[in-house]
Amino acid sequence: MSNHNSHRNQNGIVIHTDAGDFAGMRKAGALAAATLDFITPYVTPDVTTEYLDNLCNQYITEHGGTSACIGYHGYPKYTCISINHEICHGIPSPERKLLNGEILNIDVTVIVDGWHGDTSRMYYAGKPSVKAKRLCEVTYECLMRGIEAVKPGAHFGDIGAVIEEIAHHYGYSVVDMFCGHGLGKVFHDEPNVMHCGKKGTGPRIEEGMFFTIEPMINFGKKDATILANDWTAVTKDRSLSAQFEHSLAVTADGAEIFTLSPAGLTCPPYKL
Ligand code: MF3
Ligand code: CO
Ligand code: CO
Repeated sequence: MSNHNSHRNQNGIVIHTDAGDFAGMRKAGALAAATLDFITPYVTPDVTTEYLDNLCNQYITEHGGTSACIGYHGYPKYTCISINHEICHGIPSPERKLLNGEILNIDVTVIVDGWHGDTSRMYYAGKPSVKAKRLCEVTYECLMRGIEAVKPGAHFGDIGAVIEEIAHHYGYSVVDMFCGHGLGKVFHDEPNVMHCGKKGTGPRIEEGMFFTIEPMINFGKKDATILANDWTAVTKDRSLSAQFEHSLAVTADGAEIFTLSPAGLTCPPYKL
């Protein structure tokens, strides 16, 4: 790296030591999270996912950011919106109207001053089934308990182990085809952060690492297939899937979450 204030460790993971790097990530993370806050009241039955995508992009650009997604490996839209059995990388569409009872993930990645903020939450269009609601709540708990495992000296496997333990307790499965990832000036960097695994395995977690945790939890089996659009991953058994994502830094004694909701929103139903 040309930046003297950060270096890559022996596992190729960037270690940030400059307060300016943290400040940059706080700004990007706050905008990504504020975009998810902003879009919340618009998520209702009958709106199209393209409408939500355009509103998000308008909010991002009006607040000094750009979408990291559009054009990324040819991705055609500003956000990812994944409905029901779609695991991730759902492509917003003018043809797709939300229906009452559907659950969806909106995943926003912004770039502000070169830094990436990447976060996603689940939303309900109208009233979800008890079963869908439970899946979303457990997935949120998986993310937050995974973050609690982050501290210097712990292993990356500790994160996956706790997520897997919670998901399996409820009879759900953990998608292993997609991972969390390092991020900073780069969108997807080392390491791959797996959402399953064994305690005490994988590289050590060190202060100054920036990465996401973004567990994808399926109601049925973990197996995924990619749709003909070459992007959208769906559950092979077409069971429901949920996901939440935060971007964070490893601090001296834990984690600093860059993408906490400025409005205090956590898991739906969101009180506005
Ligand atoms: N935001 C997604 C992630 O969490 C990546 C989306 S890449 C895109 O890593 F090209 F599909 F937008
Ligand atoms: Co991500
Ligand atoms: Co994301």
